[in-house]
Amino acid sequence: MRDHLILIGFMGAGKSTIACIMAERLDLPCVDLDQRIETAVGRSVAEIFAVDGEQAFREMETQALADLIEEPRSVVACGGGVVVRPENRELLGQLGTVVYLKVSAGEALARVGDAGTRPLLSGEGAALAATSLLQARESLYATSADLVFDTVDATPEAIVDRVIDALEERGEA
Ligand code: S3P
Repeated sequence: MRDHLILIGFMGAGKSTIACIMAERLDLPCVDLDQRIETAVGRSVAEIFAVDGEQAFREMETQALADLIEEPRSVVACGGGVVVRPENRELLGQLGTVVYLKVSAGEALARVGDAGTRPLLSGEGAALAATSLLQARESLYATSADLVFDTVDATPEAIVDRVIDALEERGEA
């Protein structure tokens, strides 16, 4: 389907949590792309990065995104790096309405904790990595999005209210 509701944004923006609440409110399936990849491969994202490497993960991510074209309307939480590949940005545009959930690097780090499950934010250089990755991606998130919401200082439920209001205004909820 090409009318999915797709959540993008940096790690720690709350995409998965917000997608599930939104899906329940809109009575749609909730799809978490990272979870799909983990289920398909039988390994965690951290293990895929460690064993197969980031490029292999990115291939799986593109395939998981492309598969959505054949699926019924759903609320989709993407991994934070989905906007990096140009072909993914093209797919996002074809798949439906793209919602960018914004978070600062500092807040993202605080939310993801020790980041054992996020290979790109693990270890000693995590603060620097968060700042530089977010800076490099910010404009990609913004130009890929139809709607943008700040997630700092708002509960997931309040963000869902705002997103659904905006979708209703667009006749999409
Ligand atoms: C990544 C974000 C992660 C996961 C992988 C890579 C990224 O997803 O896809 O660790 O490049 O930003 P979340 O944004 O759900 O943490």
